[in-house]
Amino acid sequence: MAEAKDKTPLIEMRGIHKKYGSKIVHRGIDLNVYPGEVLALMGGSGCGKSVLLRMIVGLEKPDSGTIQFRHEFIENLSEQNLVPVRKKIAYVFQYGALFDSFSIKENLAYPLREHTKLTEIEIHEKVLSTLDQVGLKGTENLYPSDLSGGMQRRVGVARSIIMNPEVILYDEPTTGLDPFNTQQILKIILKLKSTGATSILVTHDMTAIFSVTDRVAFMKEGEIVALGTRDEIKNSKLKEVSNFIHGETY
Ligand SMILES: Nc1ncnc2c1ncn2[C@@H]1O[C@H](COP(=O)(O)OP(=O)(O)O)[C@@H](O)[C@H]1O
Ligand SMILES: [Mg+2]
Repeated sequence: MAEAKDKTPLIEMRGIHKKYGSKIVHRGIDLNVYPGEVLALMGGSGCGKSVLLRMIVGLEKPDSGTIQFRHEFIENLSEQNLVPVRKKIAYVFQYGALFDSFSIKENLAYPLREHTKLTEIEIHEKVLSTLDQVGLKGTENLYPSDLSGGMQRRVGVARSIIMNPEVILYDEPTTGLDPFNTQQILKIILKLKSTGATSILVTHDMTAIFSVTDRVAFMKEGEIVALGTRDEIKNSKLKEVSNFIHGETY
């Protein structure tokens, strides 16, 4: 198991259990996420990846277990107390979740207007520089419907990173995208990593996993059954991991 033991984890999950009715989703998840790393969560459909990601921003609550962000317990915070956490940990919705009746600029300006005291000029500049960061310069006056699905996805990422979060959570960021837009999203993940951001991505996309991740956690039936560097996972002897990677079950 590759863990950067000299580093203090940014996020520590311990003993996470979760069920919905009689459906057990998590059976005791322990996971550390270290500053600056890109961690992928992999595993079959329905194994609890999205729920785990959503727990980190308080969109779901564990039945038991703890989640610490910078040593603060966040698993049971109220909506109000989650506001500062969500400024530091951004969640990228799978399909962007843009406001259709807002221009791209207004979509991006929204979190800045809600949560900062920036002036209109500062907001305008921040919107333009963030659009540039995701390769969408010049789209600020367009509307979501003017853009392709892949471009909308990048606007969604832009909106999530405009507050300069420390951690970015991506749920299947490249699913359904063409190779060009996939590469654009992967470039954004690497660019953010180079600025020190930490990313967790849920993905089935092997290109994504083997081009941008540092470590991979493999989940099965609500547990992490393998955790290691991407090369360790690539060469894993564990049958379910190698089957998954070599496409036998998918
Ligand atoms: N809000 C919910 N209510 C009931 N069941 C849910 C809810 N969210 C997820 N589940 C169930 O929890 C399991 C894990 O879901 P999820 O984390 O979305 O899986 P995946 O690994 O595919 O992302 C699935 O069986 C799903 O149906
Ligand atoms: Mg999911």
